[in-house]
Amino acid sequence: MDVMKVIHERQSIRKYKEKDIPEEILMEIIEAARRSPSWANTQTWRFIIVKDKGVKEELSRTLTENNPAREAIIKAPVLLCLVSQKGVAGYRKGVPRTSKGDYYMYDAGIAMEHVVLAAWNFGLGTCHVGAFNHEEAERILGVPDGYTIVAMTPIGYFDERPNYTPRKPLSEILFLDRFGVPYIKK
Ligand SMILES: Cc1cc2nc3c(=O)[nH]c(=O)nc-3n(C[C@H](O)[C@H](O)[C@H](O)COP(=O)(O)O)c2cc1C
Repeated sequence: MDVMKVIHERQSIRKYKEKDIPEEILMEIIEAARRSPSWANTQTWRFIIVKDKGVKEELSRTLTENNPAREAIIKAPVLLCLVSQKGVAGYRKGVPRTSKGDYYMYDAGIAMEHVVLAAWNFGLGTCHVGAFNHEEAERILGVPDGYTIVAMTPIGYFDERPNYTPRKPLSEILFLDRFGVPYIKK
């Protein structure tokens, strides 16, 4: 599918069919993540494919109480968890290169969005999930010291598509030369 079509059509999916994802498609989605750019090509991301229902149920309980993705991560056939290595992206010889310090969150976001867009290309829905108890999820997944879980996403065939969520107008988010100077004059 054309990349702009994928970007325009994609939406967060929270209702899934239990239908399995063919292994070769799942691997193509992981390959899309592996192709993503990262700080100095440090590739600090690691991926855990969770298929075990018991593990998915345990992870679901780490989501914030009213998180609308709680059911989705159990029902979708795959729950992909993204874990990042700390203290590498954005560092040189152990010293942060910028005032931002660790850049793993930025690289993780790019990789997960590659997953999301690649999945949509194959007719599969996803939903970035960030609101959960990270320490508890790390315990469940056996994440070692030096690594931290950033996000997870269910991956599966959609059962139901929601209405599209709105976006801010360009006049509010796009500037010319200086912050606050609108690029598009109303
Ligand atoms: C970093 C991040 C964290 C998110 N965490 C959650 C979450 O915990 N639960 C959830 O249901 N959706 C979560 N979302 C999905 C957003 O709510 C969704 O992307 C946003 O409302 C826009 O809707 P759309 O993705 O359908 O365009 C998250 C999205 C991002 C990018």
